[in-house]
Amino acid sequence: MSENKPKRVLSGLQPSGKLHLGNYFGAIKQYIELQEGGNDVFYFVANYHAMTSVHDRAELRQNTLDVVLDLLALGLDPERATIFLQTDVPEVCELSWILSCVTPMALLEKCHSYKDKLAKGIAPNHALFAYPVLMAADILAYDSQLVPVGQDQKQHIEVTRDLAIKANLKWDSNIFKIPEPYIVESLAVVPGIDGQKMSKSYDNTLELFMPEKALKKRVNKIVTDSIPVEDPKDPGKCNVFALLKLFLDEDAQQEWAEKYRTGGMGYGEAKNALLQAMIASFGEARERRKDLENNLDYIHEVLKKGSARAREVAQKTLARAREAVGIY
Ligand code: ADP
Ligand code: TRP
Repeated sequence: MSENKPKRVLSGLQPSGKLHLGNYFGAIKQYIELQEGGNDVFYFVANYHAMTSVHDRAELRQNTLDVVLDLLALGLDPERATIFLQTDVPEVCELSWILSCVTPMALLEKCHSYKDKLAKGIAPNHALFAYPVLMAADILAYDSQLVPVGQDQKQHIEVTRDLAIKANLKWDSNIFKIPEPYIVESLAVVPGIDGQKMSKSYDNTLELFMPEKALKKRVNKIVTDSIPVEDPKDPGKCNVFALLKLFLDEDAQQEWAEKYRTGGMGYGEAKNALLQAMIASFGEARERRKDLENNLDYIHEVLKKGSARAREVAQKTLARAREAVGIY
């Protein structure tokens, strides 16, 4: 960050499946760093958004709890971070309606995430189409200044900025603060085991808390070329290297790149190093997660406290918006 003044930071994760390395490096790592940097951080589980794709009630409930457990286990600290469920702040739905009234259809039709889902043959419903407007409401409700996300969410933040500017102009008022994305370029697109963007919806993830045996199998499935062990290899073209380097400092990255170029190293060796790095990096979080699972009263307290604080902020924004648009 260019300035040291603490900022209001906000981000959300959908409970649409198990969290993976892409979520960690693209988003959660930055959540933690921004928390450690003394910012006023708000992080929530986007369960309204997940309803666009998860239609099984038991699954939605379980995934929602899982994301909270994951975030706390990975290092979010409820003493410093406001942690809550999206659905505990229903004000965002009303704000979303107000924003819808200044949202051109054409703006939503251009959104990549919507077009990608259509291309995958998912039957589009209204919620999927309106998804970015609800996301804008999430961001604007809390006067957010910085929004840490991976590359795939950048366009949604541009939409948010657009809508905030349009609403402020239309109603001749400073209802909304204009937020900025916070994207770490080198971590913005983490590849999956098949080399495409890692995503829950592509079945190509390495889950953060997968049991070790299953994780090992998954790592072994990472797609590589078939260059023999003794031959030189190009680290820039290897999915294993792309993932391994996320865990390494500059020097260690250079060393591994050199190993690749020299030859004599098989992909199995790099895969094993990746597996060990994952086990070492998330081992403590795995233990903490087990403790948290056995202490759901504590989790409920955290959510209660978080949603009370979040709601207070959202209610103020909504009051400004209602006043500005002329609600009687
Ligand atoms: P998924 O695509 O697996 O459904 P989400 O859409 O729930 O993931 O993303 C949650 C957060 O993680 C977002 O900020 C998103 O940008 C980030 N993210 C997801 N996948 C990746 C990836 N492969 N690389 C970098 N960031 C990612
Ligand atoms: N759309 C985001 C995703 O899929 C989740 C999300 C919902 C979000 N509301 C948000 C992220 C507000 C940042 C800010 O990852």
